[in-house]
Amino acid sequence: MAENMTEAHTRLGDAAPRVDARSKVTGEARYPSDMAVADPAYAVLVTSAIAKGRIAAFHLDAARAVPGLLDILTFENTQGQVKTPSGIFGGREATTLESDRIWHDGQIIAVVVAESFEAAREAAYRVGVDYEAEPPSAGFDAPGAEERATAGIEGGRQDIRVGDADGAYAAAPVRVEARYSTPTQHHNAMELFTTTCLWEGGRLTILEPGQFVYRRSYMAEAFGIAPTDVHVISHHVGGGFGGKHSGVARTALIALAAKRLNRPVKLVATRDQGFTIATYRAETRHHVKLAAGRDGRLQALAHEGWEVTSRPSDYNVGGTETTARLYACPNIATKVSIVHADRNTPGFMRSPAEVPYMFALESAMDELAVALGMDPVELRRVNDATREPVGGLPYTSRPLMACFDRAAQAFGWSGRDPRPGSMRAGDWKIGWGCAAACYPTHVGASAARVLLSSDGTARVQVAFEEIGQGAYTMVAHTAADRLGLPISRVRVELGDTDLPPGTVAGGSNGTASTANAVAQTCELVRARLAEAAVRANEGPFVGADPATLRLEAGTLAGPNGSEPLDKALARIGGAVEIEGEYVPPGTPSGAIGRLARGIPTFTGGHFHPDRIQYAFGAEFVEVRVHARTGEVRVPRIVGAFAAGRIVNRTTAHSQLMGGMIWGIGSALHEETEIDVRAARYTNDNLADYLIPVNADVGAVEVIFVADEDTVVNPLGVKGIGELGNVGTNAAVANAVFHATGVRVRDLPIRMKDLL
Ligand code: MOS
Repeated sequence: MAENMTEAHTRLGDAAPRVDARSKVTGEARYPSDMAVADPAYAVLVTSAIAKGRIAAFHLDAARAVPGLLDILTFENTQGQVKTPSGIFGGREATTLESDRIWHDGQIIAVVVAESFEAAREAAYRVGVDYEAEPPSAGFDAPGAEERATAGIEGGRQDIRVGDADGAYAAAPVRVEARYSTPTQHHNAMELFTTTCLWEGGRLTILEPGQFVYRRSYMAEAFGIAPTDVHVISHHVGGGFGGKHSGVARTALIALAAKRLNRPVKLVATRDQGFTIATYRAETRHHVKLAAGRDGRLQALAHEGWEVTSRPSDYNVGGTETTARLYACPNIATKVSIVHADRNTPGFMRSPAEVPYMFALESAMDELAVALGMDPVELRRVNDATREPVGGLPYTSRPLMACFDRAAQAFGWSGRDPRPGSMRAGDWKIGWGCAAACYPTHVGASAARVLLSSDGTARVQVAFEEIGQGAYTMVAHTAADRLGLPISRVRVELGDTDLPPGTVAGGSNGTASTANAVAQTCELVRARLAEAAVRANEGPFVGADPATLRLEAGTLAGPNGSEPLDKALARIGGAVEIEGEYVPPGTPSGAIGRLARGIPTFTGGHFHPDRIQYAFGAEFVEVRVHARTGEVRVPRIVGAFAAGRIVNRTTAHSQLMGGMIWGIGSALHEETEIDVRAARYTNDNLADYLIPVNADVGAVEVIFVADEDTVVNPLGVKGIGELGNVGTNAAVANAVFHATGVRVRDLPIRMKDLL
């Protein structure tokens, strides 16, 4: 096998291309809706045309007359056949055809199933519905919307109170107070929301893109079956972004349709239905008060947030946990409220809490810098904190200012004239702005199975999910490093509940959790080979300390020599298969068992009693604002990030670059428009929902800042999935202020704001 080992042993931190790149571009990669099932029936959803009221009557004769029609599920004929499961992240999602009640526009009210997609679609169009409509409340400021403080919700987040924020604010010499807002946004992954279900006896198989395949307990609850009788497969996901945490009402309805027909049923929901049958980023409002001494040191920080949610759900993303803890400050007060409206239930969307809440804080910090006449980087420096100010806990590492300094230098920040409107090139006003990025370092339990064969190949199995972030590559890379193999010799299997339980692909915990599980399992493999080698009667390892033996470049290597892997494996039967796990300290006991039942066991961020752990970054943006049209361009953006150990510089670079590009979209493009009279989304398609495209993005520079932090987890991985697009929106808005003197506090920034 020596000739197979000419490729280098892949090390953690090396740059490596995606192992699934070729399969994705050739179409070989199978997304769940690509997977063939025998004799499927096709489902099309019928969704509500009103936002509030009830269904008075269905008229189904015309639909039933369509040739090939098999079934029409409505609340009238599905009662008792499926239970709406409790939501996994708190709050419930409406609805599984529970009743005649309409909670929101676009709610699923019927599922039409037919022999072909075309027949199902035609029949769905022929479903007649009589509604009794009531005027809906679309969101903030709508009559009938109900505001409620989250502190009053059972199990809800608590307000933060440190010192006397009101008193300190009133007494401080320099103050800023402002209101900010961020719009409704929808994930709009390239891959649509799809579900295919089939039953074999009492066992349910679900082919569905998801960010947590082990969330099968949700469907077990819906059908009153054991979680082990639910098999979920999601080998590739065409974009998750928080929108595919899987196991929602549509999954239960397609499973029910398959059960009623005793036949596989396949659904590919339309782009516009994706706006209302899945979660999205809620519209938020913020009231921020900052007060400082003339030296710039914060004396008071108050952050109050409001979020729109549905009628039945108490979902709120919060976010003042982060904004209250980022800077040193002796007096802090925060509060979060939700506003129930006639809307579908929101949920996670990339950097869920930090994108809206850090926009408010980092805009306000820029306003404070202006009020103080201080450089915004220096304002962050005088308020840098090695301990978070709420509980006084130490940050495991805190390279925030290192990020600011590296990015400032690369950007050329020292050449900035701080006066707004002072920099210009022809008709274009030039503005430079910056903001902090940060994201809590989460970790979760994960199992993994590693199989090492004498031909020098390894298989690694874990039910983690590839959502476009590079999960296959990260797992292969980690195993290659630990097993002493080239990355090409490692085969990875993910996204299947037949595999050992893996963590959620969300909250930026994936690499930290999964890489540690893979590394620890590889260590069990190494230890087994080493034990056998030192106990052998011959060979270079006899009598050696097994801890000194390493797997390296296709060999087992020790202080006194090495031998090829196949020889070392021959002592233990020629191959080895071991299942291991990583359970972060502070995780509830039985974490792997809980995971297998569909309960993720996140910890990290500010949840530890003895420390706080975050990844950091700083982003610097140049904008050009056209003096006559108000058009805003972003010719360049520089981000420096400290996120612990970087597993793969290639995929990490892409991840952070993608985050910053999304951040530009957050500032300038993205907004789900709502017709408030109907409480209906109006730009529910990719033509009208604006996202940044190549022409909107100039140079994007990503800098990695060294950050060794082995407190967070053994490998010191902090996670980067969400970090890059935190603070970008504020950096753009701050740059727009610098260019124009106009402070835009309501996202997205539009030309009309600058005329
Ligand atoms: Mo991420 S928004 O937690 O999938």
